[in-house]
Amino acid sequence: MARPLVADIDLDALCHNYALARELANRSRALAVIKADAYGHGAVESASALESLPEGQRPPALAVACLEEAEALRKGGIETPIVLLEGIFETQELSRVEALGLWMAVHSEWQVEALLSYRPARPIPVWLKVDSGMHRLGFPPEQVPAVWARLVTAPQYATDLQLMSHFATADALDSAYFDRQLECMRALAERLGAPLCLANSPATLARPQAHGSWVRPGVMLYGSDPLERPSAASRRLEPVMTLRSEIIAVRDLAVGEPVGYAGRWRAPRPSRIAVVACGYGDGYDRHAVDGTPVLVAGKRTVLAGKVSMDMLTVDVTDIPEADIGTEVVLWGRSRYGAVLSVDEVARYCDTISYTLLTGILPRVPRRYRRRA
Ligand SMILES: Cc1ncc(COP(=O)(O)O)c(C=O)c1O
Repeated sequence: MARPLVADIDLDALCHNYALARELANRSRALAVIKADAYGHGAVESASALESLPEGQRPPALAVACLEEAEALRKGGIETPIVLLEGIFETQELSRVEALGLWMAVHSEWQVEALLSYRPARPIPVWLKVDSGMHRLGFPPEQVPAVWARLVTAPQYATDLQLMSHFATADALDSAYFDRQLECMRALAERLGAPLCLANSPATLARPQAHGSWVRPGVMLYGSDPLERPSAASRRLEPVMTLRSEIIAVRDLAVGEPVGYAGRWRAPRPSRIAVVACGYGDGYDRHAVDGTPVLVAGKRTVLAGKVSMDMLTVDVTDIPEADIGTEVVLWGRSRYGAVLSVDEVARYCDTISYTLLTGILPRVPRRYRRRA
């Protein structure tokens, strides 16, 4: 029998979440952010599922971080336009950008120089990145009109030029900083007559005023709710990844007996402890504290003891049916119907869903599911 740990990927849930993004931003076009191997879900498989949606419902573009990610998608047969969110990393990449039919962000002077000295046979859509307050990538707002003027007068880039920026605080429901960034971008767009692409998942879900010509949802497509407090819309998201395993051993422990490395957890009562095939060598976060929720046979229980490389331990004292072979869901949807959100697990690991989802290692087989 094979090791029971798998990451089940529900491609219908992915399509459902993408449809929700489109519905919420129905005056914008919604690209699908599938960088970092579609946040750990498998970029080619995720893109194929989205590409197979009916005409008019599928993403008009996908987004990745770099050329290598785009190349892997093209090799996997994906034909949808792909935006490089950080553009090129060296000038020589431009010929591949053109050959693969990619679109690209431009955030630095050297990239502008490289573009202006390049003569593509067909125009390359360029998204000029503005640093409206994230202070990561992009041109400072005061430099943007001059850069825009140089690009818009270059025939190879003039037709599909637009402005993009990234929000630092779109997840916080009441953020003056968000308003400041939005205002900065609106003023620039108005002055230049430029289309805008601003909204990540939280802004797609909760900030219609920031939707612009394109939205750029990422984590919401995978069913994670990025908002500080869930909204009616974010409650409609469905989990895409279920990290599913089984119990491989069970122990009865007397009061005070420790479990695992350093004996971090000690039985507060006569306890049954189940050993589960999943550990930090699979990408489950070792920072998970005692009390981190887990579903065993569809019932909530908790992690008890430090996570090991290949195993973790859970308290099944109150789940008498738990035995070797019983289903354990670390996050996602149990066969018994219950759902454990990756966002909740992330809080117990002092992290965010993004790191848990992208952190699942290649040792864990991905199993792709379509509903009947
Ligand atoms: C430039 C850019 N746009 C969009 C996204 C998608 O963000 P989210 O996953 O929060 O929707 C990211 C993600 O990091 C990003 O870097």
